[in-house]
Amino acid sequence: MANKTDKKKLRDLVKEKGVSGAIKDFIVNSQVWRSFFRHGLEDTSKTRMQTIISNVFLHVHPAKVKRHAPLFKFTWCMGGITFFLFLVLTVTGVFLMFYYHPNTRDAYWDMKGLEYHVPFGLLLRNLHRWGAHLMVITVWFHLFRVFMTGSYKPPREFNWGIGVVLLMLTLLLSFTGYLLPWDQLGFWAVTVGTNMARATPILGHEGPFGEMFGMTAYNDIRFAILGGSMVGGNALLRAYIWHCIGIPLIISIFMIVHFWRIRKDGGISGKL
Ligand code: HEM
Repeated sequence: MANKTDKKKLRDLVKEKGVSGAIKDFIVNSQVWRSFFRHGLEDTSKTRMQTIISNVFLHVHPAKVKRHAPLFKFTWCMGGITFFLFLVLTVTGVFLMFYYHPNTRDAYWDMKGLEYHVPFGLLLRNLHRWGAHLMVITVWFHLFRVFMTGSYKPPREFNWGIGVVLLMLTLLLSFTGYLLPWDQLGFWAVTVGTNMARATPILGHEGPFGEMFGMTAYNDIRFAILGGSMVGGNALLRAYIWHCIGIPLIISIFMIVHFWRIRKDGGISGKL
């Protein structure tokens, strides 16, 4: 129960700020409120920074950015758009997994069924397919922008290296996804693509030094990629697992390092 001093304090507060002001004051100073929000609401640089730092979703952003950094004309937002597309692809990809069986009997008909029988199935498939094409385009534009603004130079050379890995992983995601509809286009694209692996130095049986290291069509890198000596059920299953689990996991880890490193390198680079 409130004692005499508490009551006096409350009367003074009501006199000073009015009833609504006193209620607001009471709520904002309560332990519950302060356990949620650790700073005031005044519009000052300090509270703005505290808002970003203390919020689990916002703290991914830097509390302060250089004036040019958010300008579209500097970054073209190509890195951000690439990341956004990755998120769209992850969500639509999970929904696609509900309707898809990675075996040579069902895969093609699952995709047809999705287009003709599933509500919004065609939209879902196209969001994923067009999103994937777009991500490949935007990641190249991002690389081009980073190169043209000289942002690969010290201290950002390490992040350029991480970027190259991200580019390779993006292309691999696109390549493994291409086989999954099990249509003529994907089948022959992957047949041609994986045939190139025969010529890998040391690891391919037709590549330089391959023979010297005991490579044959039945134990080389192409055999490992396909799970056999030609594109078939094993290759489809391997492409599916790499596409839905392996590469997304690896690319997420590299993206986290990429974003963390942008902050550690002093934020987005300045003009040349
Ligand atoms: C999945 C692929 C990638 C994603 C999601 C991504 C994302 C981002 C984002 C959001 C930024 C902040 C600035 C901006 O939006 O331009 C950035 C900066 C940067 N990225 Fe990427 N990136 C990717 C691939 C690459 C590639 C392929 C390279 C180069 C080989 C690269 C090198 C860099 C560098 C050096 C910076 C710092 C740029 C600066 O300070 O101006 N990134 N990236």
